[in-house]
Amino acid sequence: MRSAAPARGRPLTVLASAPGKINLSLQVGEVNERGYHELATVFQAVDLREYVTATLRENDGDLVLSLDSHVGGNVPLDESNLVIRAARLLRDTYGIGVGADLHIEKHVPVAGGMGGGSADAAAALVALNTLWGIGASHRELAALGARLGADVPFALHGGTALGTGIGTDLESLADLGRARSGRWHWVLASPGGELSTPAVFRRRDDAGYGGAGTPDAHNGEHKVTPSVPASLCRALGEGDLEVLATSMSNDLQGPATDLHPTLGPALVAAQSAGGLGALVSGSGPTVMMLASSAEHAAALAHKLAAHPLFSWALATTGPQPGARLENVPTALPRG
Ligand code: C5P
Repeated sequence: MRSAAPARGRPLTVLASAPGKINLSLQVGEVNERGYHELATVFQAVDLREYVTATLRENDGDLVLSLDSHVGGNVPLDESNLVIRAARLLRDTYGIGVGADLHIEKHVPVAGGMGGGSADAAAALVALNTLWGIGASHRELAALGARLGADVPFALHGGTALGTGIGTDLESLADLGRARSGRWHWVLASPGGELSTPAVFRRRDDAGYGGAGTPDAHNGEHKVTPSVPASLCRALGEGDLEVLATSMSNDLQGPATDLHPTLGPALVAAQSAGGLGALVSGSGPTVMMLASSAEHAAALAHKLAAHPLFSWALATTGPQPGARLENVPTALPRG
């Protein structure tokens, strides 16, 4: 067990942030005994970040959560919130006796397929690791993060990465291809509403989206082994916009479209608005489109924001850094 007591002079308020993500490719395989599916996915962190401020509570061991949302949607502030779960997991793991006030500033759409809750958890892990003087390594935080949710390790990692296993085994992908601008330009747009990730995976299983698979070499069982198209990784490395746009795919797009009343027509509208490769991100319903430049992205976002099938649209860029400390003010505690 590590030192649990906050030392004198240690910062009393810590601010950390973590990015939302899109999935450039999401291939789904078999479901395991825990109800999780094997995945092969390419994550990219975008410049919508969640901010978590952690302030030491010296007089009690409470964990008190508050929220300032810039995106609407329903965010529970009880024990089910991933920030509280992250804090409890850190406390239990490292024997911390003190509490914290935790404040989320939310910029990633809620239940939109962009990993906003996972980003909250990642930012909380990073903030509390410093506030409570734990000193856990990135690898240790990622292992804890994987216990909180399949997208949490990527929110810690950031950049562009291949995710396998249930999405928690990460390998950085060379992303030198946009050397000119250093960025890929994206437009994100939502047809409104929320989709539950478990419900979308369930629909995929129940409606036979899984496919027949191929016979396993060892036992002949038909097994679906997900893999990311080689053309997509190549396009990322070479900065080939056209190939990237045509290589992107998402196995959850069909089931997400089944469960959302206007996602199908919204995808058609996005395609005809002039974006490259419109695709549902993650379990949706956020739609992502590749743009050729910052100007192209801004014009496309402007157009879709005014479209009746979309409730909002914005231009963003990736890849962006993973969870990080934003500042470590040494101000005295309030009151
Ligand atoms: O880990 P996370 O809480 O983000 O996952 C939400 C749900 O999405 C899981 O409970 C599971 O139903 C589904 N899921 C899955 N396979 C994955 C990731 C998520 O089936 N690899």
